[in-house]
Amino acid sequence: MTKIFILTTRGLESISAAEIAELDGVTVTETSYRRIAAECSGSLAPLLGLRTVDDIYLDLAHWEGVFHTRDMLAQFNAWSDRLDVQQAAINCRQVRPIPLKPIFSVSVSFIGKRNYTADEVKNSVSDSITFTHGWTYTADDREANLNIRVFVEHEEAYVGVRLGSHAQHERLYKMVERPGALKPTVAAAMLRLVDVQAGQRLLDPCCGSGTILIEAALMGASIQGGDNDPEAIKATRVNMKDAGVQGEIEQWDARVLPLRDGSNKRIVTNLPWGRQTFVNEELGSFYMQVCGEMERIVAAEGRIAILTSTPDLLHFNYLQLIQSLEISLFGQNPTISVYGATR
Ligand SMILES: C[S@@+](CC[C@H](N)C(=O)[O-])C[C@H]1O[C@@H](n2cnc3c(N)ncnc32)[C@H](O)[C@@H]1O
Repeated sequence: MTKIFILTTRGLESISAAEIAELDGVTVTETSYRRIAAECSGSLAPLLGLRTVDDIYLDLAHWEGVFHTRDMLAQFNAWSDRLDVQQAAINCRQVRPIPLKPIFSVSVSFIGKRNYTADEVKNSVSDSITFTHGWTYTADDREANLNIRVFVEHEEAYVGVRLGSHAQHERLYKMVERPGALKPTVAAAMLRLVDVQAGQRLLDPCCGSGTILIEAALMGASIQGGDNDPEAIKATRVNMKDAGVQGEIEQWDARVLPLRDGSNKRIVTNLPWGRQTFVNEELGSFYMQVCGEMERIVAAEGRIAILTSTPDLLHFNYLQLIQSLEISLFGQNPTISVYGATR
């Protein structure tokens, strides 16, 4: 049984936990703030297919009694002597090649004030691993075969080794970024919230660089989207090509969409909220018109998910709010609102 812990966006814990629990041989043991603990009895490779999570770690240790005083630096060094990094390397070899004597990096994050720095903790941990196992330390994560992460949270620390070669939220397809581009893991979570199925049509009327559309296409949906900005259309097309997906993309005004009534079962979008992307009119009036169009286009049994930091501006005549989730995103707290005709 391999113990793992998985990090996700604040607010998406239950969605990520459900996605993890769907994997064969994986049991979720605890869901807490931004973190999901699980046990894996089979191959670890399917974990790398998770779409809503930020990062996946093999669980190395949970240290308690992590105080703010400088004598902890010696304690970190002593605790690190007992980390079974050899087994972690063996487990990582299930999913990617790792040399017998890996080059490793250490990352440290803190919640709570302390009298020592993240770099000092890195030195304590890396000195111990170099001494005990003869591995080579690098300060540059990109040069490392293995990344060891220490999450110090108040008087506890969680220690893990990243399973993959890069963070799970980094998608290899993303080539052209635009202001307001959505985190792909959040896009994937929004698609799960409206239960997008392979073969189903999925519309994003304000697609920006196409994150939602690409995530949907990778789930097998048939995608349609647009934006009023020609540069966004170009970016979406480049990103779609890079991701190896196809769909219908047009330049349009989301307030007057050239689409038939009831033509889409699923609409998922990240509306402009005036911070990174702007609309050339008062936001309330813009939202009123776009919501009217989405309500016209969504099929009777359809679902709409919208991410915005101004959910109070969303207005529908007959669709009801089914679910509302506040998340943390780039220092803001926007809300994902899910609407449908029936609860
Ligand atoms: C928050 S961004 C979407 C980001 C996108 N989800 C991504 O990952 O890149 C909002 C988008 O709405 C577009 N937009 C603003 N007014 C619009 C309108 N009237 N019609 C269509 N799109 C519009 C902006 O150009 C911008 O690309």
